[in-house]
Amino acid sequence: MFHSGLVYLTEDASHDAVIELINEEAFGPGRHTRAAARIREQGPHDRSLSFIAADNGETIASVRMTPVLAGDVKGHLLGPLAVRPSHKNRGIGRELVRIAIEAARRKGSEGVILIGDPPYYMPLGFEKVAYKALDFPGPVDPNRVLIVPLADDAHARLKGVIAWRDCKAVIAEPVSATEEASVRAYASA
Ligand SMILES: CC(C)(COP(=O)(O)OP(=O)(O)OC[C@H]1O[C@@H](n2cnc3c(N)ncnc32)[C@H](O)[C@@H]1OP(=O)(O)O)[C@@H](O)C(=O)NCCC(=O)NCCS
Repeated sequence: MFHSGLVYLTEDASHDAVIELINEEAFGPGRHTRAAARIREQGPHDRSLSFIAADNGETIASVRMTPVLAGDVKGHLLGPLAVRPSHKNRGIGRELVRIAIEAARRKGSEGVILIGDPPYYMPLGFEKVAYKALDFPGPVDPNRVLIVPLADDAHARLKGVIAWRDCKAVIAEPVSATEEASVRAYASA
């Protein structure tokens, strides 16, 4: 079946309410207490690296990226990633991850980090972070801490605290929606 109405767009403020609903549906009320959420509470996510998928105008999936300093690595924390149940298993989650990684690469990020299921993320380029190399603001399973290294020496510098990073002062090429992710039709198998 061909989903001609499916598009991937850069997030903007008009998506906030529906993204909240999608994340509530996917993760429930406990989502705010998780270690990654505590980092995200420290400062805003980067909308230019955050994307939604919309099907015939309805937002049905979201991925956000938050600037972090992880040890000495100026990277981005990927998440939450959520796809509405009605649209699961069509490759939308994987496509959002790919788009976000590519956008981060273009913006000069040194690595995309997340806490997630290795079987889902490792085929997308994620690698395991050295055991307990990063100190999160809350308990994490060290086996689920993953990174796509975008700088050659990222793994070596990935040691210490991970926290939100203020990147306002950084001058970077703007990543336009049309360049990155706009209006891509998606064909399901
Ligand atoms: C996880 C999630 C984002 C996947 O999105 P999606 O668009 O359905 O996934 P895709 O279509 O890209 O990929 C589907 C494949 O991933 C697999 N998969 C889904 N979740 C997985 C998981 N947690 N671990 C391993 N594999 C997983 C599916 O079984 C499927 O495998 P197949 O291709 O062999 O059939 C979505 O199920 C979701 O929103 N879940 C609730 C929130 C969540 O857990 N987010 C991720 C936090 S780590």
